[in-house]
Amino acid sequence: MSKGKIFLVGFGPGSELHMSVRALQAIEESDVVIGYSTYIRLVKNLLDGKQVVRKGMTEEIDRCIQAYEHAQQGKTVALISSGDIGVYGMAGPTYEVLLQSGWTPDSDIEVEIVPGTTALSASASLVGAPLTHDFCSISLSDLLTPWPVIAKRLDAAGRSDFVIALYNPKSGRRTEQIAEAQRILLQYRKADTPVAIVKSAYRNLQDIQMVRLDEMKDCNIGMLTTVLIGNSSTFMQEGLMITPRGYRNKYDGITGETLDGEKRGRSLGMGLDGWKACVRQHLRNNPGDSLQTVTRHFDTEPGEVLSAIAEASENDYAGDFSALMAMRESLTGIMQALQQWGLLRAVVRSEAGAVSELFMHAGDLELSEEKLKIENEHFHLHVDCSSIANVWLLRCAEDMRGIYFTDSLNRIVFNLSLLRKDGVFDTHAQEKFEWLWRELSYSEDEDLAVNE
Ligand SMILES: C[S@@+](CC[C@H](N)C(=O)[O-])C[C@H]1O[C@@H](n2cnc3c(N)ncnc32)[C@H](O)[C@@H]1O
Repeated sequence: MSKGKIFLVGFGPGSELHMSVRALQAIEESDVVIGYSTYIRLVKNLLDGKQVVRKGMTEEIDRCIQAYEHAQQGKTVALISSGDIGVYGMAGPTYEVLLQSGWTPDSDIEVEIVPGTTALSASASLVGAPLTHDFCSISLSDLLTPWPVIAKRLDAAGRSDFVIALYNPKSGRRTEQIAEAQRILLQYRKADTPVAIVKSAYRNLQDIQMVRLDEMKDCNIGMLTTVLIGNSSTFMQEGLMITPRGYRNKYDGITGETLDGEKRGRSLGMGLDGWKACVRQHLRNNPGDSLQTVTRHFDTEPGEVLSAIAEASENDYAGDFSALMAMRESLTGIMQALQQWGLLRAVVRSEAGAVSELFMHAGDLELSEEKLKIENEHFHLHVDCSSIANVWLLRCAEDMRGIYFTDSLNRIVFNLSLLRKDGVFDTHAQEKFEWLWRELSYSEDEDLAVNE
């Protein structure tokens, strides 16, 4: 018996013109073509003389099993899917069925995946160039994925300024998911962010709506729609939705010359190598800015700004700030040294933005078995020290002397600063702060000696 073969064919958005040559060949070479009835209809001109197996939308696993069974009989089978068969398609379930049945890539049945144009690029091509920068796709179908997982992905994509393609945005039964998606994204995007709603791309009933993010949920959206949501730099002009590549960050739009401080073929000034120098320049240019203000300005985490300050040099100083990083291993020594800092202000910020300020005496600090405790008659603060990755000493002119404890994601766990009375620090406390600074600068690789 001849060897069987399974083609997993993505035939693109729907029109034959947008099918790849290999997809056409795969269908041509197959004895059996299996697919969802709508897909079979879309390729009906290619099916003469073939055994055709039409399945309903919910019979996905059945389609995979049938493909395997026909291939076991030595036939060549095309399991077809719109777009790319590996994108929310049948490639994954087919491999799962095959592997569960004991099939391996070396066995008698060959499997070939034929990639196709997926709905997000087909839809994008009809509305301009919305995907020219980082983008992601999220399916709003909660039939197999729990809603909290989908909501978390929408939140992360919104926060990270990705252009977003929504697959499976709405169906007869799932009508509220698109409204929830809009609500989540409006926390991060402007109401007038461009949105393209593309229905039945490259099919007979193709329909395109160009709207704003705050109008999205009320638009005509169905099962065959892909929704493209712009990022913060996407714009709409002459009916086209365009996301810039970023050339304007580097080149003059008219002359094409590189902008001041930028080099052709090199990372941007704000690239990985240079962006901390930009933070320091910002601090030099904006002397009144606090750590929080600068963190917000660069849309980053405080630990990143602290490290930019700590890497300052004489020629590239960080305005009025200076910082020193200590390794977490020095924590016990630091805590003991801290107890001589007199009156302190402890600040703890909740993730939702609440800020607690506690006034305390350094002697209230206690470190035991990886737990830091600050206890007095007014409050108890317990910190799990395993969440602390780095410790930073921070000075700002004559105004502030503080210590920041950050986690592995560069977020502040909590921070302490020396209190001033009538505008001046207690001399003893300041001396102890400076002592710790000196010790940490000298003992980068050694355990911190404790000041008796
Ligand atoms: C189960 S997913 C399949 C995706 C497909 N494998 C692909 O790569 O395009 C179905 C979703 O794809 C999108 N879609 C598929 N074909 C489309 C088309 N011609 N126009 C617009 N969206 C389409 C819709 O969001 C639809 O709900």
